[in-house]
Amino acid sequence: MSKIFVDACLGKDTPYTPVWMMRQAGRYLPQYMAVRSEVGSFLNLCHNPAKAAEVTLQPLDIVGVDAAILFSDILVVPNEMGMELSFIKGEGPKFSHPISTLEDLEGLLGGEEAATRLTYVYETIAILRQQLDARGDNKALIGFTGSPWTLATYMIEGEGTKTYNICKKMLYAQPDLLHKILRKVTDVVKLYMEKQIEAGVDVVQIFDSWAAAIEPSRYDEFSWQYMVEIAHYLKAKYPHIPIIMFPKGVAAFIERGLVYGDFDVFGVDWGTPMALAKEKLGDRYVLQGNMEPCRLYSQEATTQCVEALQTIMGGKRHIFNLGHGILPDVPLENAIHFVNECHRVSGK
Ligand code: CP3
Repeated sequence: MSKIFVDACLGKDTPYTPVWMMRQAGRYLPQYMAVRSEVGSFLNLCHNPAKAAEVTLQPLDIVGVDAAILFSDILVVPNEMGMELSFIKGEGPKFSHPISTLEDLEGLLGGEEAATRLTYVYETIAILRQQLDARGDNKALIGFTGSPWTLATYMIEGEGTKTYNICKKMLYAQPDLLHKILRKVTDVVKLYMEKQIEAGVDVVQIFDSWAAAIEPSRYDEFSWQYMVEIAHYLKAKYPHIPIIMFPKGVAAFIERGLVYGDFDVFGVDWGTPMALAKEKLGDRYVLQGNMEPCRLYSQEATTQCVEALQTIMGGKRHIFNLGHGILPDVPLENAIHFVNECHRVSGK
């Protein structure tokens, strides 16, 4: 039996519109917090395939979403390229030695060497493939990666940033060095995605969470073209595996008609009006999104948005999601309400 989420990604008619939430396996779930405290830390959880698989599946039963997203983090890729990573409570991720020179970059592992080190991710996927098939409910498994640009921002800044001044200094003052970094990361990510597919994911999503840091006239050169290269590489080998692109905060890029590439689904962030995305992209791509995640604090605001999205998209070529990740302090019952409302308005 085909999976409703995969069918929707491929633009086929489905009995209702599927829904999932970015960051759905996470801290708003008490059951996630329990497993995390059992293993001691977030990174331990990423490195433990049995436990990572367990938290991946939690939102399926607890929240009722139509697809599971692999539990891991985008930063395991630079970590396995050789960059020491820690997650500091309340501060987020930190690389102890950010890269700033060609020598730093050359010291990192690349290609196959780096991609094969991510064995715990592939093991998690293999467990999930088996468990999902055994459930027989045809819920899909989404694999993912960060985009080369989004990964590079952490590799260069060493941590999250509000200004992106270190990586943007490189963008304008040493563009060749930034391109060399993006090239090396792209080559690892292609193999990483390929290995996720071989291990059993049904769909892949490329997160370009920090797309908006680049001005629209430079976005293609420093981010989008690399994402498209990854998508084309995968499409040539695995034409049946849908690819979702999620560049966050690129309304100007969409409005100017600059989106191109061979992929299936465009993830619309919450700052881009869905009607604009539909007008500019709806013929070429299935659209995913895009409720402002903070609407989840109010069931009324949630219902209002879900109904508005249904009116715009009409249940065609659409996947319900948030316009970015769910926040840790959202009440669980409101997340369940969101999923139920998406199913209700689209006829489940
Ligand atoms: O449910 C899912 O979506 C699957 C798991 C997932 C995580 N991170 C788990 C996580 C996914 C897909 C990601 C992707 C990710 N990681 C992105 C891109 C998506 C986005 O939100 O834009 C980014 C930018 C990261 C980097 C990252 N990881 C940051 C900035 C942080 C700390 C910020 C925060 O929310 O605390 C993380 C940690 C992280 N990744 C957590 C989870 C559940 C929280 C860690 C914890 O349990 O303490």
